[in-house]
Amino acid sequence: MAIDFKVHTYASLPSTQHYVKELVAEGLPEGTVVQAIEQRAGKGRHGRKWFSPMGNLYMSVLLRPDCDVAQAGQLAFVAAVAVAAAIDTVLDEKHKLSLKWPNDILIDGKKVCGILIEKEADGYALGIGVNIMAPPDGAVALNDVTWDIQVPVHPFRDKLLAALGETYSLWQDEGFAKIRSAWLAQAHGVDEPIKTEKGEGIFRGLSEDGALQLETAEGAILDINSGDVYFAAEDKE
Ligand code: BTN
Repeated sequence: MAIDFKVHTYASLPSTQHYVKELVAEGLPEGTVVQAIEQRAGKGRHGRKWFSPMGNLYMSVLLRPDCDVAQAGQLAFVAAVAVAAAIDTVLDEKHKLSLKWPNDILIDGKKVCGILIEKEADGYALGIGVNIMAPPDGAVALNDVTWDIQVPVHPFRDKLLAALGETYSLWQDEGFAKIRSAWLAQAHGVDEPIKTEKGEGIFRGLSEDGALQLETAEGAILDINSGDVYFAAEDKE
């Protein structure tokens, strides 16, 4: 079943995520999208701030998936695969896109997009921030890695929503398997050392339902469902 996206664009908001959470509670339909040209209090995961000056894409999508709360974490992968597909249409082949568990998109190892999923009442707010021309320190801008002169924000938003419509329908109609395979095919750091809040080990992939699989020094496989993951060669963000 395709989503009918209705985009509401604002010049400036504290956070599109806060706004969409209010709209979930007010009963607005799935596919309602709030975009802000800038955010004054952009929110990242774990209560971090999300750098939100003019020039990047900031949007939150209202979703009401037909799934248990336990499966809703799979939305991170549904969204990441869609963002990757949209970025692929503009990415210069010299640069490499990868997906970092659970919901970051990297180009050449630097963050280009962050995804935040929050439950509110009987729905979800899916927040997506893509650095297009104004990245924070240490991150990358899409404009610096594209084959085109520049990536206009609104057409890129529409490409991303079209891709999200496809990955979301695939997930709702057929389950997680194809999303999981698409994500794994682009995953960052499989078979490399990682540190997680549950300990250190080797990143061995994704479980059938989306948990990170960590192989411990003793050879056991642990399923990790939340918390940050750091690859040995990186600094913490
Ligand atoms: C992360 O920490 O990686 C997730 C960042 C999510 C940022 C987006 S921008 C649009 C939406 N509004 C917010 O305040 N946050 C999300």
